[in-house]
Amino acid sequence: MSTTYGVVGVGSIAEAIVVGLCEGLDDPPEVVLSPRSAARSAALAERFATVRVAGDNQAVLDESDVVVVCLLPGNAAEVLSGLAFRADQAVVSAVAGLSVERLAEVVAPATDLARSIPLPAVATRGSMTPVHPATAAVAGLFDRLGGSLAIDDELAYESVAAASATVAAHFRYLGTIADWLTAHGIAGPEARRYVADTFAALSGELGQPGADFAALADAHATPGGLNEQFARDLGEAGVYDEVRVGLDAVLARIAPN
Ligand SMILES: NC(=O)c1ccc[n+]([C@@H]2O[C@H](COP(=O)([O-])OP(=O)(O)OC[C@H]3O[C@@H](n4cnc5c(N)ncnc54)[C@H](OP(=O)(O)O)[C@@H]3O)[C@@H](O)[C@H]2O)c1
Repeated sequence: MSTTYGVVGVGSIAEAIVVGLCEGLDDPPEVVLSPRSAARSAALAERFATVRVAGDNQAVLDESDVVVVCLLPGNAAEVLSGLAFRADQAVVSAVAGLSVERLAEVVAPATDLARSIPLPAVATRGSMTPVHPATAAVAGLFDRLGGSLAIDDELAYESVAAASATVAAHFRYLGTIADWLTAHGIAGPEARRYVADTFAALSGELGQPGADFAALADAHATPGGLNEQFARDLGEAGVYDEVRVGLDAVLARIAPN
């Protein structure tokens, strides 16, 4: 029997999931969306024949086998507590920081629960999604979206969530380089284009199997050269140590125990 997915909280990550489930496929699953974020939900229902918008959040649950929760951390537990889940219903949460223990409290009597950290690239089935624990429902969902990475230990899973919080800092790093170029006489658009092209050209190297970051750093650091100097200077200034400190702080926030 085919699975009907219900999505509560139709924001950006939910949209990526729905697009990945349906775009260009001959046999997309049935998907039921919560009605809030009406424009986004309606656009998805318009775009895909198997996607429909439910009357309210409870109707999403009533019409689905697997409920995918894409609410924000600030109100997810409160919203879920107000809904009546079925014992035979599976739940897959994408909500950052909502532990399995807390999720179990708010979706009882449902007990088939899993957490996940989908990235926007699920829209093109282009990334593996960390999941915990690896229930059949969560594996089935993300098998359709580029695969899943099962993580048994919840703290290890949370550390992956912390690692995914490093993207904005990455762009600030690139922006700092571009701004520095502009301060040295290169016009802003050209400076940004140059930095973007430099790093975009490297993305192919990240796609290689078993990406070995130390080997990549060595490959880009001619002995005695400028890359070697800059990487060493940042290390001596404690920049990489601060990356670890920052990650510890994010982890402490999402997994305080
Ligand atoms: N974006 C990512 O890359 C990413 C990756 C991994 C995990 N996550 C997690 O996924 C969750 C969603 O993130 P997001 O980036 O998709 O956020 P988002 O775009 O803000 O989506 C949240 C959605 O929930 C809706 N919502 C709020 N209250 C609701 C309610 N009572 N009933 C139904 N829907 C309600 C919001 O509607 P309104 O806009 O009308 O308030 C909004 O559409 C977060 O917990 C985040 O930690 C996100």
